[in-house]
Amino acid sequence: MSERVIRLQVNGQPREGRAEPRKLLADFLREDLGLTGTHIGCEHGVCGACTVIVNGEAMRSCLMLAVQAHAADISTVESLADGERLNVLQQAFHEQHALQCGFCTPGILMSMTAFLAEFPRPTEEQIRVALSGTLCRCTGYQNIVRAVESAAQRLANVK
Ligand code: FES
Ligand code: FES
Repeated sequence: MSERVIRLQVNGQPREGRAEPRKLLADFLREDLGLTGTHIGCEHGVCGACTVIVNGEAMRSCLMLAVQAHAADISTVESLADGERLNVLQQAFHEQHALQCGFCTPGILMSMTAFLAEFPRPTEEQIRVALSGTLCRCTGYQNIVRAVESAAQRLANVK
């Protein structure tokens, strides 16, 4: 099948690549753009590890074709830190021990980034509901909830 040219904005930069129409966005990001922070777990929309932000909304990049991302504005986990400096959410995950193996963490960070943009003062219940779309096989989620609460408080204090 012939490849298509895909031009899009990724992490604030214009990027371009070529992909067959059947190629998943997750694979395009990892293999063609070298953004391997996006992880692939189940590959059928269940685990959330591949979550990125597309035009402001959290999306599972294993459920989207690369060609569908043409002209889109995408943020991946690589957009969060400023060099070695973690952003507020990442720092909260670090401080609250909200990860173990870290495999699910990029997806959780991106889904929580979109969540906190929409719900800057979330209740614990709202955080738990938002997290329910992501599977972490390592933790009991308690520390992840604490980290999101902590990040929300810090972000509220700087506004
Ligand atoms: S790899 Fe996309 S949801 Fe699991
Ligand atoms: S930290 Fe290991 S799967 Fe979530």
